[in-house]
Amino acid sequence: MITKPKGTIDITGSDSLLWEYVNSVVSTMMSAYNYEFIRTPIFEASELFHRTVGETSDIVRKETYDFKDKGDRNLTLRPEGTAGVVRSYLENKLYAQPDIKKYYYNGTMYRYERPQTGRLREFTQFGVEVLGSNDPIIDAEVISLQYKILESLHISNLQVNINSLGDEESRIKYKEALVKYLEPHLDKLCDDCKERFKTNPLRILDCKIDEDSDILKNAPKTIDYLTESAKKRFDTVLRYLDLLEVDYEVNPKIVRGLDYYDHTVFEIVSLDNDDTRQSVLGGGGRYNKLIKELGGPDSYGIGFACGIDRIIAMLKEIDLYKSIQREIDCYVMYVSEEEKLHAIDIVQSLRLNGVVTETNSLNKNLKAEFNEADRLNAKLLIILNNEDLKMGLVNVKDNHTKEEVKVDISEIVDYIVSNL
Ligand code: HAM
Repeated sequence: MITKPKGTIDITGSDSLLWEYVNSVVSTMMSAYNYEFIRTPIFEASELFHRTVGETSDIVRKETYDFKDKGDRNLTLRPEGTAGVVRSYLENKLYAQPDIKKYYYNGTMYRYERPQTGRLREFTQFGVEVLGSNDPIIDAEVISLQYKILESLHISNLQVNINSLGDEESRIKYKEALVKYLEPHLDKLCDDCKERFKTNPLRILDCKIDEDSDILKNAPKTIDYLTESAKKRFDTVLRYLDLLEVDYEVNPKIVRGLDYYDHTVFEIVSLDNDDTRQSVLGGGGRYNKLIKELGGPDSYGIGFACGIDRIIAMLKEIDLYKSIQREIDCYVMYVSEEEKLHAIDIVQSLRLNGVVTETNSLNKNLKAEFNEADRLNAKLLIILNNEDLKMGLVNVKDNHTKEEVKVDISEIVDYIVSNL
């Protein structure tokens, strides 16, 4: 038997219901915040990720799915969504329009990671990117949107861990302090960190091997090296978050694993989940230099992404969702061929009027049809029989109260719609 590739999942049964539910909450909230849906390719030129996510990031160094197509082009399955959205913004010259652009996306991403709970090789993210504004209210809006989506999915004990990397000047000062601090401890760090020290020392703070060592715990903090204006900016973001009723904690450990960030960076966790790595439901930050680095104008960007697979795993632990079942509005029953012709017509009319309808398509007898209707959790049953049909009537049974009424066939759709 052919099995699915390692690190991928099939979404079926009650999981697929949860997926549909999460996606509908996400798109409703995105519309309310006036974000426009954007779809970019699942594969892009490899160079795009090298120049955005960064040569020294774990993602680009170890985790990308790279391949050559038949035209000898170097392509990569996208490991995240930001790079593609920014590429599209530049390629389509959307920056030439005076407005800010607020995009959201929802799609699969690919990272060659060691699969474990909440860590897949093919996973799905929803996220946003806001391009063209440096106003701290946008930082607060993006963070609060992510927070409020998770809150409206009934995930409790949410906390945003937030930090600021500051502007370029702050980052240069910080890097100097960090290098000076780490140098005497280098031999005690892992081999990867020794390499990171040469290429990108900030990355060391993000190390999964050394994260619990005292060396990293006592390392200098980015917020102590912010310039006056970067500090003021960060304080303004926090003030707006208070107004928007977002629970946050300033956490100097948040530096994020992708190279493009500056100023505000954040991750969102549920404190109910004690597995620290898998509890990170989403993260993001500002990337004010990225657009220019990719050949665009001096502009601004900020965004977040949340892992839907991790969200679903959390929802499955919540009582509210444990008994979630698919249900239909109406099941139409018949036995004879003549009744079937009426059934076909009624089923089609109901469906086209938005009534979730199913019928017998396996030549079942009446008893089996009742069983099938129960299995599908049908609310109303339409039971067709030739005698009633001759008088222009159909039987409708409420599957919960078991009450039955006869309804004129010409009024059946209206009757069902108004009795759901
Ligand atoms: P990220 O922190 O790499 O950020 O990923 C965001 C979220 O995607 C994580 O918090 C996690 O929930 C989910 N995720 C990441 N890797 C996996 C995996 N292997 N399996 C399952 N879920 C995973 C980004 O991707 C940035 N592009 C976010 C951003 C948008 N920054 C600015 N704009």
